[in-house]
Amino acid sequence: VEAALMDGPLRGKHVLVTSGPTHEPIDPVRYIANRSSGAQGTALARALSALGANVTFVTGPADVPPPGGVTVFRVQTAQQMLDAVQAALPADAAVFAAAVADWRVASASDKKIKKDQKGSLPVLEFAENPDILATVSQMKKGRPALVVGFAAETHDVVDHATSKRDRKGCDWIVANDVSPETGIMGGSENAVTLISEDEAETWPRMGKDDVARQLAARIADALGGNA
Ligand code: CTP
Ligand code: CA
Repeated sequence: VEAALMDGPLRGKHVLVTSGPTHEPIDPVRYIANRSSGAQGTALARALSALGANVTFVTGPADVPPPGGVTVFRVQTAQQMLDAVQAALPADAAVFAAAVADWRVASASDKKIKKDQKGSLPVLEFAENPDILATVSQMKKGRPALVVGFAAETHDVVDHATSKRDRKGCDWIVANDVSPETGIMGGSENAVTLISEDEAETWPRMGKDDVARQLAARIADALGGNA
């Protein structure tokens, strides 16, 4: 491992990775979240580190533990994730694998919301969370040379992911089909299409660790670290 760290193609490069879900509080005992184990982001951080990168790993509450040998920042909410990402910059590359909640509860209650004895239901008002990937992609100063997003889609995967890439301004989007019939969501495999400015390359379905190793190798190529 030590030799790999010394000799890898990403030695001397700082790569930021976000991973896992975010939890947006409703009250002290309840939250809203996306489904995400954090497995793909964790595998990616491990693969980048194995190529010698200095990895900063910003993670929401994931099911899997973070890899060893990386700098870990644990967060709960999207706003905290954005703050941690901005504090960790500059970076040579940034990969946004987190499943960030799109909305938070506009004013979370600081006390547990109790059931109304007359049966009236709570109404939650939402506010939109900051888009971390778009924020970093559109930085005027200090933008990482390579910004990579993920797009989990259930239909028209490549179309949706291609327009997401354009809208957010990232360099690459890793699109994956998470429609229920694929069984991808929550599993150990992934079927991805890597979308860049001029091509969409579909990879065979493979383990998340293999997706991570291939993507890390691509990132190393893009950063010109093959010396
Ligand atoms: N992302 C982010 N911050 C957000 C939302 C998303 O950084 N508030 C990042 C994710 O980590 C991912 C990419 O943006 O890399 C795409 O996320 P996705 O949820 O697919 O995109 P959205 O723009 O939120 O679109 P959708 O309506 O499909 O959820
Ligand atoms: Ca979203």
